[in-house]
Amino acid sequence: MTKPRSLSVSLGERSYDILIGTTVLAQAGKLMRPLLKSDRVIIITDANLAERHLARLQRALDDAGIRHEHIVVPPGDGSKTLDQLGRLISRLLDLKVERSTTLLALGGGVIGDLAGFAAAVTLRGLDFVQIPTSLLAQVDSSVGGKTGINTAQGKNLIGAFHQPRLVLADTSILTTLPRREMLAGYAEVVKYGLIRDAGFFHWLEAHGADLIDGERAELEHAVLESCRAKAEIVAADERECGQRALLNLGHTFGHALEAETGYGDELLHGEGVAVGMVMAFDLSVQRGHCAPEDADRLRRHLAAVGLPTGFADLAPRHWDVERLIAHMGRDKKVSGGRITFVLVRGIGGAYLETEVELDEVRALFTTALNDADQFALENETSRMTTRATLGS
Ligand code: GLY
Repeated sequence: MTKPRSLSVSLGERSYDILIGTTVLAQAGKLMRPLLKSDRVIIITDANLAERHLARLQRALDDAGIRHEHIVVPPGDGSKTLDQLGRLISRLLDLKVERSTTLLALGGGVIGDLAGFAAAVTLRGLDFVQIPTSLLAQVDSSVGGKTGINTAQGKNLIGAFHQPRLVLADTSILTTLPRREMLAGYAEVVKYGLIRDAGFFHWLEAHGADLIDGERAELEHAVLESCRAKAEIVAADERECGQRALLNLGHTFGHALEAETGYGDELLHGEGVAVGMVMAFDLSVQRGHCAPEDADRLRRHLAAVGLPTGFADLAPRHWDVERLIAHMGRDKKVSGGRITFVLVRGIGGAYLETEVELDEVRALFTTALNDADQFALENETSRMTTRATLGS
């Protein structure tokens, strides 16, 4: 079997490896065996992922002589709740987990966040291994130790920093993902190029479409480079006191759109991030810090792969500027009443800015919404002209 590519997240005694490749799931038992405190693990997954991947993981654990049980939680964001966390911990205690038992989070962001948080608090802390099954989880949420659940007040407001012992990213799993989910994860890949690596963004302009189509070499390279960027940022600022906040590029705007659309199927997280990144570039242009050509280049690339770049690309609805701004004010990244924005000096040059006046944001949203209205009007006019021409 091919040897996985390996990266390290350097956090002293909490350091861990990220192993990336196309046979990582099949070798999971062998790869994690040296790290386990006992020969017992509990797999946490959801019903859909269990059907697709559980048997393969169980075989890999059997091959390495690791005893395993599994807990299946309902699929979807609805499982990131206090109620579901309580049930999961009860089940773990019923299974008589010990401090030496390791939890395996087999899933996307929801499973990783929920199982990771259960690992952080059960018996005051169990080891856990992330086995991310979505592109978004492989390039972002499985790395860095952010775990947590949602409440009625907002997303991820209860949680813990709890680093995994190992991340196993099997890129062959990704080739079966629905295209929309793949694209949503791809927005987070683009983010790394925009934050600090113009060369990577350039590479994505040439190869992004191939990796979204499931080309293995391109996919592996993109996951590796994304994890490399994330690992370096997390190692420098694990608790988000400074530069880790750069990873929120596009997220403050994106979260406002998600909050307005109800965090559901209407707008996936990555789609909100894609529009949000364009807005962060537009705000930077509006403030005179970024060349308009860079914002255009980002728009062109996102549009070329099929990601939304503005309100005109989203499902039609009435957007209210003041409500969007209110959502931004509720973000947990607000400090002393001020929102920290991630702005850019250009592609690859992100920085943090707290001195943004709400009127600037108001103007930005108003222009973006007017552009979308204008676009809809032009579309309607051209449809009517076509109909009139066909009818004549
Ligand atoms: N997803 C952003 C972070 O891990 O900091």
